[in-house]
Amino acid sequence: MRKDPVGTIDRVPKTQKYKNSAFLIVLLMVAMKVHAADVASPNGRIHVGLDLDTDGKLGYQVRYGDETLITTSRLGIRFQNHASIGDSLRQLTVERQSSDSSWEQPWGERRHVRDRYNELLVRFEATAGPDRHFDVRVRVYDDGVGLRYEVPAQDYYDDVSIVDELTEFRLPQDATAYWIPGRGWNRYEHTYRTTPIDEIALAHTPATLRLESGTHVSLHEAALVNYAAYTLDQRRPGIFKTNLAPRSDGARVETRTPFVTPWRTIQIAPDAVGLLNSSLVLNLNEPNALGDVSWVEPGKYVGIWWAMHLGTKTWGSGPNHGATTKNAMRYIDFAAAHGFDGVLVEGWNTGWDGDWFNNGAIFSFTEAYDDFDLQAVTDYARDNKVRLIGHHETSGHISNYEAQMSAAYDLYESLGVRQIKTGYVADGGQLQWVDADGVTHFEWHDSQIGVDHFQRVLKEAAKRRISINTHEPVKATGLRRTYPNWISREGARGQEYNATWAPPNAPEHNVMLAYTRLLGGPMDFTPGIFDLMHQGPDSEFRVQSTLIHQLALYVVLYSPIQMAADLPENYERYPDAFQFIVDVPTDWEESIAIAGEVGDYLAFARKERGGDNWYIGAISDEERRRIEVPLSFLDKDLEYVATIYRDGDNADWQTSPYDYVIEERELDHAARLTLDLATGGGTAIRFRPKEKAKK
Ligand code: NOJ
Ligand code: CA
Repeated sequence: MRKDPVGTIDRVPKTQKYKNSAFLIVLLMVAMKVHAADVASPNGRIHVGLDLDTDGKLGYQVRYGDETLITTSRLGIRFQNHASIGDSLRQLTVERQSSDSSWEQPWGERRHVRDRYNELLVRFEATAGPDRHFDVRVRVYDDGVGLRYEVPAQDYYDDVSIVDELTEFRLPQDATAYWIPGRGWNRYEHTYRTTPIDEIALAHTPATLRLESGTHVSLHEAALVNYAAYTLDQRRPGIFKTNLAPRSDGARVETRTPFVTPWRTIQIAPDAVGLLNSSLVLNLNEPNALGDVSWVEPGKYVGIWWAMHLGTKTWGSGPNHGATTKNAMRYIDFAAAHGFDGVLVEGWNTGWDGDWFNNGAIFSFTEAYDDFDLQAVTDYARDNKVRLIGHHETSGHISNYEAQMSAAYDLYESLGVRQIKTGYVADGGQLQWVDADGVTHFEWHDSQIGVDHFQRVLKEAAKRRISINTHEPVKATGLRRTYPNWISREGARGQEYNATWAPPNAPEHNVMLAYTRLLGGPMDFTPGIFDLMHQGPDSEFRVQSTLIHQLALYVVLYSPIQMAADLPENYERYPDAFQFIVDVPTDWEESIAIAGEVGDYLAFARKERGGDNWYIGAISDEERRRIEVPLSFLDKDLEYVATIYRDGDNADWQTSPYDYVIEERELDHAARLTLDLATGGGTAIRFRPKEKAKK
């Protein structure tokens, strides 16, 4: 047991543990529960209680079975020029609602999503200070909790500046946390820490916790709109608070009533894979606001990209310029020959020459370099039934981008481009915008300014039936449900770190991503590097995985768009393994995480959308492992031929990453399959029904 449910934590030494639970109960009774409203999940396992203490301070707690996950934790908001909400409160009304529906994703990791919850809406008014009132809405699902503030229009509040949100998560149990630091220069692009929760200072969300009891929890948020993202701030041992990203004008959020905050989400599962099988964050977002989105196209792509990260080509002009008409046509040929949907071309537009990291103001988004004929390339792509994927690196200069956005999107629309990858390479806190007086302001990517900018991009793009894949984005909070043209994003250390300009990702990194970053939504990781030792076997710059692990990533790390990131010539060296990348879909009917532990290993099974084929992807960290997976997800009435791509018996990411075996087996739903994963290894399987169904 950790300490303090009621604010006495400053009086106890850090290491002291309460052994006497009777003492705890007395403390709880003294200070709490003047008013209370409770709500449980549909299956009855999760309970949330809202309480007012004797001072009218608002708090909540969460129980899971007979475990206390969150002890009474504060709720409230502070404003710059208005009285706070969260204390001196009286409860007015309690409304309850239950809902059980399902909705269909236009694309996604599963087609149908069940949305079943019990809801509590509690209205409060202040008993001291100016007249004011607000509501707290709590939704409890079988897989977790969503909670948000709703501030109606009212006399006292009109335009408001939020300076702090007081939402706490008081964690009474010791736990292991899997997290990355918040508010750093490198945005979300860190390796994950595995530490006792005490060691967190500021952490981005989703932050994943494994409690002593074995219960798994992910703290995050859903529907981040017109607000600032929060990082988890450990104020005292075990007491975490939402710390909203600041704006350069000193406030955290500028808004007006009525407004609602994003949902504060607490995903809860009995085991690690339970977190991956949850749709909580999506369910807490608003339905599709774009109407017909048949123009949003999942698919696979190749592109002029990896060579720049290896340093053999340049984004800027010169003898090694990557984005030439000739090179683009070569990639289009390769894409067409193997059934890929898109070809990304980076470095096609002027502005890259010189120090592009710091020259965001000079990018043109309509003017191509002389050796790149945009019209000819898009014509050639169309003739070959491939689409050019557009690219806009902004270097974080959002004013320069917004000034050209309409013209740039019009241009791409006229050429049949349906997807744009955007980039915001700038240190944390260094997004720039210039006001009417010419003054430059600097902002965090996850501030309200950043959040608003990304929304404007999505809406402008949607008008031209264009989808956006944001690199250096704000974190994913499920907005793909509302804006299905937010097709993917980066927002973590991706494959690019395995090139030549930074220490590469350690073998456990990809496993860690699945249990942390990917809980927010799809990631454009860009898997599929086959030339793992691209700088020679003795260089530290390499990919720390086996080749088969790279195949498995297409199934493990969900994104509706997946890149085959390596150079065509490297795929031509391993045509048999490349076949898996050619075959694997990116849009799914169903997805089930079937085995795994956070940061250690993971196996996902996914069924192709609109087809009968199933796929398994399994990956390991630096350990060699044997895991057994059930095949009970397969259709009971069918027999399948499985094409298994596995690590060879001597495979090892360091010494023998190319040792692999491809074999076929006949299998059905009753079978259990043993997977041998090498160090940094994996398995990738494609199951096709045999022609005749077994009746
Ligand atoms: C960062 C992106 O993550 C990367 O994929 C891209 O190549 C560079 N920016 C240049 O835009
Ligand atoms: Ca990046």
